[in-house]
Parts: sequence; C-alpha cells; structure tokens
Amino acid sequence: MDFEFDLENRIVDPEGIPEDNDIENPLRPRTLGEYIGQDKVKENLSVFIEAAKIRKESLDHVLLYGPPGLGKTTLANIIANELHVNIRITSGPAIEKPGDLAALLTNLNPGDVLFIDEIHRLSRSVEEILYPAMEDFAIDIITGKGQMAASYHLPLPRFTLVGATTRAGQLSAPLRDRFGVVLRLELYTPEELATIVSRSASILEIEVDNDGALEIASRSRGTPRIANRLLKRVRDFAQVMNDGVINYQVAKTALDKLEIDELGLDANDRRLLDTLIRFYKGGPVGLETLAAAIGEEAVTIEDVYEPYLMQIGFLSRTPRGRCATHAAYLHLGMTPPGAQDMQQKLF
Ligand code: ADE
Repeated sequence: MDFEFDLENRIVDPEGIPEDNDIENPLRPRTLGEYIGQDKVKENLSVFIEAAKIRKESLDHVLLYGPPGLGKTTLANIIANELHVNIRITSGPAIEKPGDLAALLTNLNPGDVLFIDEIHRLSRSVEEILYPAMEDFAIDIITGKGQMAASYHLPLPRFTLVGATTRAGQLSAPLRDRFGVVLRLELYTPEELATIVSRSASILEIEVDNDGALEIASRSRGTPRIANRLLKRVRDFAQVMNDGVINYQVAKTALDKLEIDELGLDANDRRLLDTLIRFYKGGPVGLETLAAAIGEEAVTIEDVYEPYLMQIGFLSRTPRGRCATHAAYLHLGMTPPGAQDMQQKLF
C-alpha cells in the first residue's frame, strides 16, 4: 500500500470514522468535568446551563464552530447530559426536505436538545422552517396545492438547537443571528492533548508514561480525535516492541514508521508546503490554484490542513494568497528566501 497518498485511510484525518462517532465510544467524556481543554467554552457553557436549570427554562440555542475533530458532537452530548434531557442527533445533509425537519421537531419533548451537525449544509427550504421553530417554537406547515392548500400553525415544545459547523462563515446571517450562544472551539495544546491521551489510555487499559503521552500528543495536530487514533496505533507497536508499554522511545519509533513527523505533519501536509514552495516560490498563491495543484478540494485545504499549519506558523493567509513562512522552509530542509523577499510576500 502506498501510505503517502492513501487519502481514504489517512491516519491524521480529523474527520470522524464511524468508530469515532459511535456515541457509545468509551473515550468520550460525558460531563463538563471530564472534558479536558476548551476552558473558556466550558466556563461559559457551565454558567448558561446552570442558569437555565435554575430558571427551569430550556437553554438558548448554541452554535459550536471550529476545525473538525475537536469535540463538537461530544459537547452537544454533554450539554444534553448536564441538562438531564434527551438528545436527537442529525446532520445538515441528512435533512433533505422540510417535512424531515418537521418530523424531528414535533417528536421532541420539552427541553430536549436537537443536534444538527454540518448545519451549514441545510437546504434553503429546510432553513426556512427552522427560523420560526428557533424563534417562536412553532412551525407553519402547508399541505395540498391550489384550492386544496391549507396552512397549519403547529406549536412546538421549547427545545435547544445545538448546531455544529466547520464553516461559520458559510451560515446565512438570519440563521447565525438566531443562536443566543456562539462558541468557537480552538485547537488543543500538546499538554492538553497529553492529558487526553493519558485519560484514554487508562480507559483502554493501555500503559503509557508521561513522555510517551506527550510524544503522541505533540504529533496529533491539536486534535483529540487524531490523538486517540494515534494512541491505538502506537499501542500495536508497543505490544510487539515493549510488552505493551508506551514510553517516549516506543512512541517515537511508531510515529516515525507511520511517517508522522515531530510536528504531526503527514505526507499530505508536507506535499502542500512542498508544492507551495517549489511551484509557487513560497507564494502568494490563490487557494483554488493551490487546491488544483495538489488535487484537493479548496474547502478541505481550508478546514483540514490550514488551521494547524497556521497555528504552528508554517502558512499565512495574505490578501494576495497563501504563503509558506520561513519556518516552513526550514522544516522541509529548504533555504528560505532572503528577509527582504519574505517581507514583500507577507505584506
Ligand atoms: N476525548 C476526546 N476529546 C476529549 C476531551 N476534550 N476531553 C477528554 N477526553 C476526550
């Protein structure tokens, strides 16, 4: 198997696989107390949840946004759990017709959470049902055509919509404005991820020391979903190399073999930077041009590759296009252009 360009099985893919998304996944924290990282989000959410409970009201609608793999679905489950209500889980593309959404809404109990993942992918006609549902807790259903047409005003129980998206900018303004709480999830620090790796290891009964956990964490691109996946792969190496115990050396050897470098970049990230530097002299180059050159969708580059490359200071988005930074050249073992050229690119 050619590991380098096997995009389907990319081990650092932050998009979920069915196993990750299984709500029975034992690695998923169930309460805000168990949830590691995203401190600002947790602090605010816990206040809003407590206040709603004191007032015996439903929680305001919540929009969660940020790169994939950071725990948006997990947080939605935690919100419902902390509120002691049920959660119904669906996604933008799964709701095809207004009737599908009407069926979901009319089956909710008072206070329930309706979680819509990828909410930016709702169709316009479905969105239009959602506005009055969110604002007035009612929907207007039209049946029949022509003279037989009739309109019904259907009151709904008060519910909490939790929407999740990787692309807040793609939400229509009327939809965005109807969320009372808007929370942005950030990439995790290596220390936070190391704590998550240690927690997951103890649940899965894997032995890992602090340096082993930190090595896995620092190669996980700020993303718990990737950290948990790497932990399982490194365990395989540990089983064969070291009686199942993960220490720094085992983690390093395993991750080197998986071609995930010290910063968590895989062959695809390096290919993006390499193309940017070799074909376009380090940029600036437009997103669409870069996407065509590496054979990826522009949205994949924006949502999956760029957040981490920007966080580690390897890529900048300038008004004239994408640029590789000094640090990116050095990481790939290439000579950066002179300081003056670099200034011109970035400004
Ligand atoms: N597993 C995945 N994400 C987590 C988080 N934020 N806290 C604890 N465990 C996790």
